Amino acid sequence: MDYKYEAIPSIKHVEKYGENRSALDVHETLGTLDRHWKNSRSQNRRRLVVMISGALGILLFLYWAITGWSHSIQSCDSVRDGFQCQPELSHYWGQYSPYFAVESEIATEVPDQCQITFAQILSRHGARDPTSSKTTKYNDTIANIHANAKSYGKDYTFIRDYIYTLGADHLTVFGQQQMINSGEKYYHKYKSLAQRTTPFIRSSGQERVIESAQNWTQGFHDARTDDLSGSNDGYPYKIVVISEDVGSNNTLDHGLCTSFEDGFDSKIGDSAQQTWIDMFTPSITARLNKNLPGVNLTNTDTISLMDLCPFNTVANPLGRLSPFCSLFTLPEWHSYDYYQTLGKYYGYGWGNPLGPTQGVGFTNELIARLTATPVDDHTSTNSTLDSSPKTFPVGGTTNLYADFSHDNDMTGIFAALGLYNATRPLLNTTLEDMEETKGYSASWSVPFAARAYFEKMTCVGAQEEFVRVIVNDRVLPLESCGGDDLGRCTLSAFVDSLSFARQGGKWDQCFA
Ligand SMILES: *[C@@H]1O[C@H](CO)[C@@H](O)[C@H](O)[C@H]1NC(C)=O
Ligand SMILES: *[C@@H]1O[C@H](CO)[C@@H](O)[C@H](O)[C@H]1NC(C)=O
Ligand SMILES: *[C@@H]1O[C@H](CO)[C@@H](O)[C@H](O)[C@H]1NC(C)=O
Ligand SMILES: *[C@@H]1O[C@H](CO)[C@@H](O)[C@H](O)[C@H]1NC(C)=O
Ligand SMILES: *[C@@H]1O[C@H](CO)[C@@H](O)[C@H](O)[C@H]1NC(C)=O
Ligand SMILES: *[C@@H]1O[C@H](CO)[C@@H](O)[C@H](O)[C@H]1NC(C)=O
Ligand SMILES: *[C@@H]1O[C@H](CO)[C@@H](O)[C@H](O)[C@H]1NC(C)=O
Repeated sequence: MDYKYEAIPSIKHVEKYGENRSALDVHETLGTLDRHWKNSRSQNRRRLVVMISGALGILLFLYWAITGWSHSIQSCDSVRDGFQCQPELSHYWGQYSPYFAVESEIATEVPDQCQITFAQILSRHGARDPTSSKTTKYNDTIANIHANAKSYGKDYTFIRDYIYTLGADHLTVFGQQQMINSGEKYYHKYKSLAQRTTPFIRSSGQERVIESAQNWTQGFHDARTDDLSGSNDGYPYKIVVISEDVGSNNTLDHGLCTSFEDGFDSKIGDSAQQTWIDMFTPSITARLNKNLPGVNLTNTDTISLMDLCPFNTVANPLGRLSPFCSLFTLPEWHSYDYYQTLGKYYGYGWGNPLGPTQGVGFTNELIARLTATPVDDHTSTNSTLDSSPKTFPVGGTTNLYADFSHDNDMTGIFAALGLYNATRPLLNTTLEDMEETKGYSASWSVPFAARAYFEKMTCVGAQEEFVRVIVNDRVLPLESCGGDDLGRCTLSAFVDSLSFARQGGKWDQCFA
């Protein structure tokens, strides 16, 4: 369990970036102690305090190191009191990681002398149960173990008593809380606009996405009510729901592009993942089988048992770490994370010839909002919706937007926007770290309750407005439009860089 010791440096990181509620509380407590210290009059008392706090410090450190207690302080910003997620693990669960603030090389604060004039959030729904096909598969894997295990190895005995109770597709309570927190955070981040403006909100039509949007508005509304002490702000806010039914034009949910959905391209992600499964799982499968004699698990079962770690963790309202998590080592979680990253990149990103095309409709809508001009798109937008100011307002007083979607769709949108264009085609047989992927991974881009912010700002001394993009609190460098050292491009440079989307991507190949 040596990963537990790595918690201490990451505390520093969280304080530095100041994104973590619980860690901030610790920071504030330390500040209070410091003030007490300064007020203390007697020298002797000071010496005593030094001795006691030194001893306490050592004890606390040992306690930390031994029990990993620091992890409960390291909440992933999901549940206010006591999310016990362990960042060394939970940041390596691919798209099943609960949202966390990704380290940003560029400062996340609004640059000096600049003022935010526009903020669009594009959010994934919060943590959910497994999809229905996966939940059947996991249940079968557990049933197979129960039926055939002749004995259970030392760390495996909990499986004997484990009853599979995960549902299917629904947002969990933990996931609802993530969205409430996200709404609050957005309010505070964009308060200068949010005090006066209620965001224009759209949601893709699946129940968990709509519910996520609702929970997000709860958090936004609560934060505003606290801030402005009451005031009727029209809550519950209007949400435009876009159907996910077959044939629906929906920029927040793919489905129209036939070659992408059913053709050769629909298999590329699975194929890339299979190559990597063959590399990293056999040694794990062998260990599992040694500890569960009689069962004969496959490499695919190994993935299922790994999946049960995040899913059981987010099924707990406090995100208490599931015992399935400790069946695997830290390097094994890194391999798992990479497995999920390959699935996204080759399924919906530039690794797939038609992946980025799925994000073109949303990109053209974003251009319309940023430039206050009508939507110009011939891919997945719905012209009925987008030509009406009731369902697609642009310009005027509308400067806050919130859209709710899925991980796969966000991956395609990020690709169409060129956000990870510095990433080279990912290797299927060798794990690449975050430096090698230039900051791209499933857990950094589309975890549960992922959120991208697209901002516009005016700055003193600058003729033109700037655009900045922040994905899970990491300011992206925006190399593709010549981003400056604060991550900004001028609006015109940003729009110019989006020629792929403006030209409709490869939509013409969808029906070839
Ligand atoms: C798991 O499978 C068993 C037997 O097939 C079934 O009775 C049970 O309802 C399933 N549980 C869940 C949560 O799907
Ligand atoms: C999240 O939203 C749903 C649907 O509006 C609601 O039933 C649920 O109570 C909300 N969750 C919380 C924690 O408030
Ligand atoms: C476009 O949106 C309108 C209004 O919601 C809806 O009635 C129509 O079915 C949608 N068309 C498509 C192709 O999605
Ligand atoms: C990874 O696998 C996919 C699917 O087989 C393939 O399209 C892609 O070219 C492979 N990537 C590399 C870098 O070989
Ligand atoms: C385990 O299953 C594989 C096929 O998945 C089979 O080839 C192998 O013989 C089985 N081993 C045992 C010990 O049953
Ligand atoms: C829906 O999308 C298709 C494919 O791009 C397009 O032909 C059709 O006109 C769109 N329908 C609406 C209502 O926008
Ligand atoms: C990202 O790369 C693709 C493929 O090379 C290119 O077509 C697209 O224009 C790039 N996007 C941006 C915003 O630079």
